[in-house]
Amino acid sequence: MEAVTSRESAFDDDRWWDPDGFLFGMHTLLEPLRGSYVTATLRGAGATSGSRVLDVGSGGGFLAAALTAAGYDVVGIDPSLPAVHDAADHVAASFANAVGENLPFANGSFESVVCSEVLEHVEDPSAVMAEISRVLRPGGVFVFSLPNRTLLSRLVLIDIAQRNRFTRVLPKHLHDWNRLIGSTDLRDLAQRHGLTVQEVQGVSVGTRDVPRALLALVDLRRRRISYGDAGSKVQLRLSRSRAIAYVGYALKTRS
Ligand SMILES: C[S@@+](CC[C@H](N)C(=O)[O-])C[C@H]1O[C@@H](n2cnc3c(N)ncnc32)[C@H](O)[C@@H]1O
Repeated sequence: MEAVTSRESAFDDDRWWDPDGFLFGMHTLLEPLRGSYVTATLRGAGATSGSRVLDVGSGGGFLAAALTAAGYDVVGIDPSLPAVHDAADHVAASFANAVGENLPFANGSFESVVCSEVLEHVEDPSAVMAEISRVLRPGGVFVFSLPNRTLLSRLVLIDIAQRNRFTRVLPKHLHDWNRLIGSTDLRDLAQRHGLTVQEVQGVSVGTRDVPRALLALVDLRRRRISYGDAGSKVQLRLSRSRAIAYVGYALKTRS
C-alpha cells in the first residue's frame, strides 16, 4: 500500500523523543496537564481502562504513551510515516499510517477518540470530525485539545514563538493563523457531526509562573537548555481563560 503523506514537513521526523528537538519540548510542556486531563475525562465519561481509544494524529505517540500507561488499548494513526515508526519504537500501542479524513476503521468501532493539537493542521477539519464521529460508538467520548484563534494566541504562538527573529523557538510555518480553530467554531463543527460538546476549559500559564516561563524561553534561545528541559519548566494549568489554548470533550449524541 502506498504511504499516506503529511502536509506538515515539521512532523515528518523520526526523532520525536529527542530532548533537543522542538517536538519533545511539546511533550514535556503538554503532558503533565494533558495526560491527566485526557485520562480523567475518559474515565469520567465511562471509558474504563482496557477499552479501545483511537488517537487521531498520534505523532510520536506522546499522548498514546500516557493513555497506555493508564491501561487503555490505544490505536494511533498519523500521515507521517517517520512519526508512525518512531511512535511504534517508543510506545506499546498500535500505530498506522492514515489521515484523519479517511480513517481505516469500521463504524462505531471505538469507545473513545482523542485528537490533540491536530485539527489546526489538517486539510479538512470537517471531514476529520465526520470520521471521528463515524468511528465512535453511540454515547462514546471525543476528547480534544487545540490552540485557540485569538489575538493573544496569534501574538504568543505565531509572532513570538515562530516569527520574531529574536524570540522564535518553533519552525516558522508550524501554525498558520488562518487554520487555527476558535473554541466556539470547534463546538459548532462537532455539533454538525453529532458530537455534543460537554466541556471546554482554557489552558494557560499561571500568572505567577510567567517569569519562569520567560526565563525558560531565554535559556532555550541561548541554547543553555534543551527543548525537553524548557517544556518541563513551563507549568500549564486549566484556567477560565481560553485565550491561548483549550481542552474539552464531546459525547456522540447522534449518528
Ligand atoms: C502537533 S502534532 C501533534 C501530535 C500528537 N497528537 C501530540 O499531541 O503529541 C500534529 C500531528 O498531526 C498530524 N496530522 C497532520 N495532518 C493530519 C491529518 N490530515 N490527519 C491526521 N493527522 C494529521 C501530523 O502528522 C502531526 O503528527
